[in-house]
Amino acid sequence: MALVTAKELLLSRPPGQAVGAFNVHNMEDVQGVVWAAEELGTPVIVMASESALKYAGVPYIAQLVRTAAEAVSIPIALQLDHGSSFEIAKACIECGFTSVMIDGSRLPFAENAALTRQVVELAHAHGVSVEAELGRVGGKEDDLEVAAQDAFLTNPDEAVEFVRQTGIDVLAPAIGTVHGLYKGEPKLDFARLREIARRVDVPLVLHGGSDLPVDALQEAIRCGIAKVNIGTDLKYAVTNGVRAYLKENPEEYEPRKVFAAGREAAKQLVMEKLRILSREAV
Ligand code: 13P
Repeated sequence: MALVTAKELLLSRPPGQAVGAFNVHNMEDVQGVVWAAEELGTPVIVMASESALKYAGVPYIAQLVRTAAEAVSIPIALQLDHGSSFEIAKACIECGFTSVMIDGSRLPFAENAALTRQVVELAHAHGVSVEAELGRVGGKEDDLEVAAQDAFLTNPDEAVEFVRQTGIDVLAPAIGTVHGLYKGEPKLDFARLREIARRVDVPLVLHGGSDLPVDALQEAIRCGIAKVNIGTDLKYAVTNGVRAYLKENPEEYEPRKVFAAGREAAKQLVMEKLRILSREAV
């Protein structure tokens, strides 16, 4: 199928379920994610961060994901993850991304809203949906370390105002998750999430979806999360898959065999996560 927007996938998701969004870096990641989704018949969002795009190139990722999506019969969206500027959002839109995230969460409210509004205007003119972040998600976010104490959670009043001022399609609130692995037990503010979900009329995203217990993921979905972002778990799966293959086959030099092990590990991880996210959360 042709690529669809993340907004479309989120608004048409079955009740009680969330859509999985996975960060990719290369062809094997893209195939692993899309093939897993196809095997389960579950739509999926493929995401690339700015550093992944710096590594692979925006047109490469755009073409890889478009090609993978066109070869399957389930809808796939392609999204820029944590875009830090209007320019990177524009480059992705011009290359055929169907969704962009503009992350102005480091800026004061008014500047974040103004940058986000600028991206929304361009994106909507091209039929592209926009996600934005308000509040700060802790941990390692792309190349930037956000000190845990510096992370602050989203104020529900501000969330309402932010959505109204910007016209975004999807909101990423900060509710206590961190990017990367958790140092202690994750402490998610579900009451805050419920309140934001009750008052805001756009789908909500859980950033930092790796390394969370199944119960926490499902409670987040029950409280209103529509999209779950998973990056770190996929990185570990791929690299551990390659490492295990090379440990068993230390003489192997055929790249196809080595990287196919990473691709298969990616596929298995994505299938496991999609099953969790689409299990009826009761
Ligand atoms: P994790 O790497 O913690 O899964 O976070 C991914 C994410 O939120 C990408 O935006």
